[in-house]
Amino acid sequence: MTETVAEAVARRRQYIAGGTMSINRAIGPAKLFVRAKGAYIWDAEGNAYIDYHAGFAPYLFGHGDKDIDDAVIAAIGSGASLIGAGTMPWEAEIAEMLVEAVPGLEQIQLTSTGSEAVSYALRLARAATGRDTVVVMQGGYNGWSDYVSYNLMDPGDVVADHREGDEYPLRVTTAGIPKVIDTTVRVIEYNDLAAAERVLARGDVAALILEPVLQNVGVVKPLPGYLEGLRELCDRYGTVLIFDEVKTGFRHALGGYQAIAGVRPDLCTFGKAVANGYPMGVVGGRREIMALCNDPDPGRRVIIAGTYNGHPVNVAAARASLLRLKARERDVYSELERLGARMQAGIEAIFARRNYPTTFVRQGSAFALYFMDHAPRNWRDIALHNDNERDLAYRRAMIEAGVFHFPAATKQSSISLAHTDDDIDRTLALTEDVVRTLG
Ligand SMILES: Cc1ncc(COP(=O)(O)O)c(C=O)c1O
Repeated sequence: MTETVAEAVARRRQYIAGGTMSINRAIGPAKLFVRAKGAYIWDAEGNAYIDYHAGFAPYLFGHGDKDIDDAVIAAIGSGASLIGAGTMPWEAEIAEMLVEAVPGLEQIQLTSTGSEAVSYALRLARAATGRDTVVVMQGGYNGWSDYVSYNLMDPGDVVADHREGDEYPLRVTTAGIPKVIDTTVRVIEYNDLAAAERVLARGDVAALILEPVLQNVGVVKPLPGYLEGLRELCDRYGTVLIFDEVKTGFRHALGGYQAIAGVRPDLCTFGKAVANGYPMGVVGGRREIMALCNDPDPGRRVIIAGTYNGHPVNVAAARASLLRLKARERDVYSELERLGARMQAGIEAIFARRNYPTTFVRQGSAFALYFMDHAPRNWRDIALHNDNERDLAYRRAMIEAGVFHFPAATKQSSISLAHTDDDIDRTLALTEDVVRTLG
């Protein structure tokens, strides 16, 4: 007899703490997924879904992309293994490709995840400035490390008390953070330049880190002048500006969102789409900061170390992905834009006929449908105005209809190059049915 989903979940709960291999993957209703290819994922009951979750966004070329998988298989077949001493043949090329592609990268280090890349960026910034404090954004997500695990999407009542220009009272989002870390973190709203100025003016801030587009609460874009304003403030107060491009990097442009914005951070981090689903992170930036990795003074030297840094399998995936993006840069991003625009026009037309407000926000292939009457400026705006209940009901009904948007309010969806016009049109037809049924 085959296992039911309920049995599969119960079995996992015995030995997997929390029941899923990353706490953020827990969803209701529970699903047991068994396969993914291109723009589709399948569950154990044989249901296929058009996938817009994309494993939290890395799959720019879709799941199981042949080019990338072939490159990985070739790397394994060629005897490439991680010797973990000295340097290895594939390291120069990947570093050169990254530095050439992204304006803010002069030197890099590779990691296995985005969280590690962020932790190193913060460490570098502290070493470079001799200061401890870091500023993070409400509604941003920069991985799981202690220094960035504060005020992750505060609830409506906390947000309602907040005034523009103010810092937030600190609220840890996980147990287990040493109390002493509280003294080193400040939380402000995205798109609130006055708050950034106030906190940086104290002169003790090592780093201000942000996703240049907030993409862990949908798609929240910078207001005109915001990123430029942060650049200027960081220059004025001697703070290291870090763009966390783990989600925006390579998805919107080969040079990252920084290339679109024309604002150059001091340090930046990448992950996800850089290796189309294989585990790789990148931290890099200005040469004089990265040079701290081999500073002759042990008191200033920054350690970036990892057994699996630059693992040949992940590098092979990143190389294949970057080669393709480079060779077909214009085609790739104009196709993603075209598919995104097709989705946007269809969804907007469907929801225009409803008697409740929605706003579709999109950056290229990344999109979010908010259940509120305007594009949000920041998390405060979302927490106060988005109809989360309707948002979640819509997502759950879409999943039952065969379209997978992550079932949590305001989560961002991603289109890949494996999606076709037919996939988009089928999504729109199913959306129309779902929305009509939901009322
Ligand atoms: C913007 C951003 N930074 C950092 C991370 C952490 O990356 P990882 O999950 O690879 O550690 C994420 C993951 O979602 C992210 O979205």
